[in-house]
Amino acid sequence: MDLKSSTVLITGGSSGIGLEIAKQLLEKGAKVIVTGRDRAKLDEAKAKHPKLEVIQSDVADSKQVETLKQAITSKYPETNIVINNAGIMRKINMHENRALEDVTREIEINLMGPVRMTQAFLPHLKTKPEAAIVNVSSGLAFVPFAISPVYSATKAGLHSFTQALRIQLKGTNVRAIELAPPGTDTPLFTGDEFTKEDTAGPKPMPVDELARAFVRGLERDVEEIRPGVSNGLKWLSRIAPDFAVNMLGKSAQNMRH
Ligand SMILES: NC(=O)c1ccc[n+]([C@@H]2O[C@H](COP(=O)([O-])OP(=O)(O)OC[C@H]3O[C@@H](n4cnc5c(N)ncnc54)[C@H](OP(=O)(O)O)[C@@H]3O)[C@@H](O)[C@H]2O)c1
Repeated sequence: MDLKSSTVLITGGSSGIGLEIAKQLLEKGAKVIVTGRDRAKLDEAKAKHPKLEVIQSDVADSKQVETLKQAITSKYPETNIVINNAGIMRKINMHENRALEDVTREIEINLMGPVRMTQAFLPHLKTKPEAAIVNVSSGLAFVPFAISPVYSATKAGLHSFTQALRIQLKGTNVRAIELAPPGTDTPLFTGDEFTKEDTAGPKPMPVDELARAFVRGLERDVEEIRPGVSNGLKWLSRIAPDFAVNMLGKSAQNMRH
């Protein structure tokens, strides 16, 4: 895709992978708008990258997605790429009590968010000569990480949704692209939610390296971008699926009630 003449909307672009992709796309000459829930984080991103446009919006809220669509189509009608990147990842021990509305939070954000965004933005994207919907899944879409069972399920679901969407979009000007990052050095993976033991294994990929691999893939029209360990996980899940699940499940073996 030609990125220089593109206008890109990135959900969850105030931190981590989304912010780094925004920065690299700005460097390519694209126009970039990012969203997030926390106003202070958005303001900080804007202060660091004055060319960035920021909009406060929560992908878990259908009304806010509708308002976002109206804001984008009226203020930035040239938008031709939507990157569904917003996500959260928690350690969830299913033996422990948790409020029922809380235990499904990842599903609301990581899976229902991209589905809502796709439904809302597809009619607009279809009016552009060259457009794309990018869904940010994970290497855990291919093999679950047992200490984050709900998160892993959302990413497997998002992978499946993207495959199906790609078929429905065949013959249109809109591409369905998946970015499946490996463990990456951002607050989501290296923050307080997980201990060092939880995330022991391959070193997280530096976020600038991950974003470069994505931008290169987007420029070359790669449909499923699987940097680093994610590519290995995809193949391992086919060659030795039980081995792969047990390998990533080791850190959950002590989760008892
Ligand atoms: N880091 C990794 O190892 C890794 C690996 C594989 C896949 N991924 C995926 O990559 C994506 C980005 O993650 P990251 O590592 O960059 O995490 P991050 O640094 O925590 O950034 C997450 C971003 O999403 C925003 N966000 C969270 N919930 C939102 C919501 N409901 N609506 C709108 N924005 C929301 C956050 O801002 P607010 O909190 O202010 O809303 C923030 O800007 C996620 O989908 C994640 O699952 C990450």
